[in-house]
Amino acid sequence: MSNQIIQDGDYVLIYLDARRTYMVKVQSGQTFHTHKGYLKFDELIGKQYGEPIKSSLGTYFTTLKPSLTDYIMKSSRNTQIIYPKDAALIVMFSGIGPGSRVVESGTGTGSLTTALAHYVGSTGKVYTYELRSEFQKTAAKNLQRSKLIDNVELKSGDITQGIEERDLDAVILDLAVPWLVVPHAYEALKPSGVLVSFSPTIDQVVKTTEALKENGFIFIETVELIMRSMQVERGKTRPQTLMTGHTGYITHARKIFKPRPEEKPKEPLPTEEATSQPQESTEQQQNEMDSAEHLPKLSFYSSI
Ligand SMILES: C[S@@+](CC[C@H](N)C(=O)[O-])C[C@H]1O[C@@H](n2cnc3c(N)ncnc32)[C@H](O)[C@@H]1O
Repeated sequence: MSNQIIQDGDYVLIYLDARRTYMVKVQSGQTFHTHKGYLKFDELIGKQYGEPIKSSLGTYFTTLKPSLTDYIMKSSRNTQIIYPKDAALIVMFSGIGPGSRVVESGTGTGSLTTALAHYVGSTGKVYTYELRSEFQKTAAKNLQRSKLIDNVELKSGDITQGIEERDLDAVILDLAVPWLVVPHAYEALKPSGVLVSFSPTIDQVVKTTEALKENGFIFIETVELIMRSMQVERGKTRPQTLMTGHTGYITHARKIFKPRPEEKPKEPLPTEEATSQPQESTEQQQNEMDSAEHLPKLSFYSSI
């Protein structure tokens, strides 16, 4: 219960309405000014999250405990960030959890790093590589604010030159040239480990997929996640008029042991057309139909 009580030095999300929220650090003796009057932090300290607070002009604000999404959306930014909808899917595809060891690049603003650090927890580690020191500093501040910095090692350097860590559970990429990192990711991952790459353009996806195929990865899939918000009000409920049309594509794949030269097929396998003969329906074919083999090819992780 104690962490439900606002203390000096805590971050609080001050909520007026869905469009007007402010992430502030509560500091004894100080005030927070808004166009609806100012709030005295001393009146916040000792209150429970969720309680209202009245401004000097009589407007009520609500105090919320910042969530992972709030920390990401309110981060100080100097790069494009990965938004929570994509971060959520990246985390699912990566298979990470408490105790996982993950390499990520580039760090950028540290938004995805924040999400990864949350999920690997204090027993895991996110090693995040970044070329530009000024971005790294901002990311460090964002990670300190969310109290997740201890789960992260910030590394300076060009990840296309190599990855120092070994036996990783996942390598997660959000940078311009992910295909150049694929061979290093192969060396750094555990067999069966996961590579996830986020790219805004399809040209990057094609190059990355080709590199994955050439470097011992299987189970390769690319998806785009489109999120549509709803306005909900009785009699007027419908999708919102404006939406974000595109953020990026998510490609994910699994590392396997590379086949030894003698295990590689010498000739291309015959195509389906060359081998198929018209036949009467057999029990086996019927079973295949029942097992949804005939359905349109969907995402590995989709359901219908
Ligand atoms: C789009 S931003 C990453 C944003 C980050 N995923 C987030 O959610 O805040 C891309 C970052 O990759 C960094 N970068 C580009 N090439 C790199 C490389 N070869 N090695 C390390 N970092 C690199 C850039 O400096 C930039 O900060």
